Amino acid sequence: MEGLRVIEHPVLARALTELRSTDTSRAAFRAAMAEASEMLAYEALRDLPVHEVEVQTPLEATTGARPERITVIAVLRAGLGMVDAFLRLMPDAAVGHLGMRRNEETLQPEDYYESLPESLASTTVFVVDPMLATGGSSSAALRRLRAAGARDLRLVCLVAAPEGVAAVREQDPHVPIIAAALDRGLDERGYIRPGLGDAGDRLFGTE
Ligand code: URA
Repeated sequence: MEGLRVIEHPVLARALTELRSTDTSRAAFRAAMAEASEMLAYEALRDLPVHEVEVQTPLEATTGARPERITVIAVLRAGLGMVDAFLRLMPDAAVGHLGMRRNEETLQPEDYYESLPESLASTTVFVVDPMLATGGSSSAALRRLRAAGARDLRLVCLVAAPEGVAAVREQDPHVPIIAAALDRGLDERGYIRPGLGDAGDRLFGTE
């Protein structure tokens, strides 16, 4: 789908299979989310601007590169499971949080918490939200971040549904979306099929 980049890699596929399986323990689910998120982060950071720096090797002076700082925004609560992966690759990233809860009856997002770093307007911002289902919470998060000054936004998810991708693209036509999988679609409760169930519940043990 336009605007969506699905990362294909055997190791990512294995992590995603762990995430999907009901045989996966909570600890293994957390580990697989961390592993998959790190690979997605690696790919999402691929075109991050770098600045040249001078470096002295033991033998001579040469030039190296340092990536620009970034901001990571976790869409609560399942997005928390993806933050550490970004921080492993970009340890000085600023991290913000947006609480977007899905109302299970209307399937519409409800905003209940916000903590946004000042770097929002001056850095590339990676919004992490593992399940792009209806697209309601991701779209609401992107809308809120644009209103707060963010200019360069990317959305990183584990599993996307076509409905969610379309909804996000309608709200924010130029935002790149990076995912580990594009699944078949949504069921009548708004769950992604085949999906992996409720990512937040499986991550935090509230299922
Ligand atoms: N949120 C989830 O965690 N899983 C889905 O399938 C849809 C929304």
